Amino acid sequence: MKQPTDWTKITLYIAAGVTAIVLGASIGALLYSPGGSSRWAVSADSPQSPFGGPFELTDKNGERKNEKILLGRVSLVYFGFTHCPDYCPLELANLTAAKAQLKGSGLTPQIIFISVDPERDTPKVLKGYVDYFDPAIIALTGAPKEIAAVARGYRVAYRKAPVKGSDDYAVDHSTSVYAMGPDGRFLARFDAKTDPAVIAKTLLEKSGLGKTKSSTPSAASTDG
Ligand code: NI
Repeated sequence: MKQPTDWTKITLYIAAGVTAIVLGASIGALLYSPGGSSRWAVSADSPQSPFGGPFELTDKNGERKNEKILLGRVSLVYFGFTHCPDYCPLELANLTAAKAQLKGSGLTPQIIFISVDPERDTPKVLKGYVDYFDPAIIALTGAPKEIAAVARGYRVAYRKAPVKGSDDYAVDHSTSVYAMGPDGRFLARFDAKTDPAVIAKTLLEKSGLGKTKSSTPSAASTDG
């Protein structure tokens, strides 16, 4: 099996990846928070923040998709790349955990992963990666121009970065998660470390479903 090897590699690369994340955070801070002091805080209260917009991309099955996939569902949109050694796997695990915690709540968010590394992230590579977390994840890639356009819409910054001591490259990227409503408009933004329970709770509140459920979702239990 290929998966265990990949994860060992991921573990080895975590230390190097921290540098990339710090760089990415700096880029993100420049774009998101002029003050810069609370750059990774949850900012679920900026409803007029114009994240999103139209896009044309190719999904993991090779089908062309656009922003209409957001309609009728609550979506969690995240930008990353399959070679990411650090936050992307953690983030996808967090998002699938949040989705699991919402089971039975009447709200099933769709997770959308958009590659910022279209050179390596072909539809096939994307499928092999995201299906490991949850086969329901929608993964999108596209021509560099198309990726640049959607990233601009979500105010996501990314750039190629060489990996020290290797001819490999990483992609520094913003690690925010954007919750989009069934109307395709921005609902909330989470950072890479937002607890899945907080994501689940915020989505319930923002969608109006949270009012009937006063109990906090359990952080430990995701079965059911
Ligand atoms: Ni990443």
